[in-house]
Amino acid sequence: MNRKPSSIVILTGAGISAESGIDTFRSAGGLWEQHRVEDVATPEGFARDPDLVLGFYDMRRAALTGVEPNAAHKALARLDAEFAGDLLIVTQNVDDLHERAGAQIGLEKGRVLHMHGELKSALCTSCEMRSPWDAPMSANEEAGRPPCPVCQAPTLRPDVVWFGEMPYQMDRIYGALRSADLFVSIGTSGAVYPAAGFVRDARELGVRTLELNLERSEGSHWFHESRQGKAGELVPEWVGEVLE
Ligand code: OAD
Repeated sequence: MNRKPSSIVILTGAGISAESGIDTFRSAGGLWEQHRVEDVATPEGFARDPDLVLGFYDMRRAALTGVEPNAAHKALARLDAEFAGDLLIVTQNVDDLHERAGAQIGLEKGRVLHMHGELKSALCTSCEMRSPWDAPMSANEEAGRPPCPVCQAPTLRPDVVWFGEMPYQMDRIYGALRSADLFVSIGTSGAVYPAAGFVRDARELGVRTLELNLERSEGSHWFHESRQGKAGELVPEWVGEVLE
């Protein structure tokens, strides 16, 4: 690595959670081979068949109880705790493994930002409030769909960003990119915008760019440096270089 960075923006994707046992989206047998994006990850799919969509996210939320953060999440939590400069960890993941590893999460000040939302959060389509959520959201036979903790309407949806919707906190992400001197992309295929465009945005701003991924991603050629391997090995190694 070149000189020591003083302000880092990190983007993580499904690959960082793969070694914890969470399916990625675009691998063979991944989530988008098992389910149609249009059915489970669009507002139109939700309007057509809410039970199918709520059931899909209930299943993914329930699966979180059986998995643990891996060495890559732990290394980023160590960076979060020990790095003296500015740091923002932007994750496309809706799991909670960064925060369970110890990285700080929070809407305004936390260093972990869930740009595609969170499985453990509910969004009410009536009052538009977001609430922490760790239970099934689909209807049960006796009680129907659960009420919103704020307005009591039975109109909760998963607080995840679907195709055609705007990711969270884009202003904060672009603000951090503008003042960064290093952008690092970890475990993402570079297939989904706007996240896939961050590397080009960073380069236009003169920010150094590094990719850590199992294989070369779709946008790999945009990075100054690309290292291939498992996140559980590459990320602790890179964090060690930054903190040493
Ligand atoms: P993908 O499934 O598209 O890509 C995962 C990437 O991680 C691939 O490039 C893999 O090679 C890599 N990978 C797999 N195992 C790895 C490991 N052990 N270590 C390092 N890398 C590994 O997932 P994302 O890029 O996160 O959005 O997908 C982006 C978005 O597409 C998701 O947030 C989701 C999805 O549709 C929405 O649902 C809005």
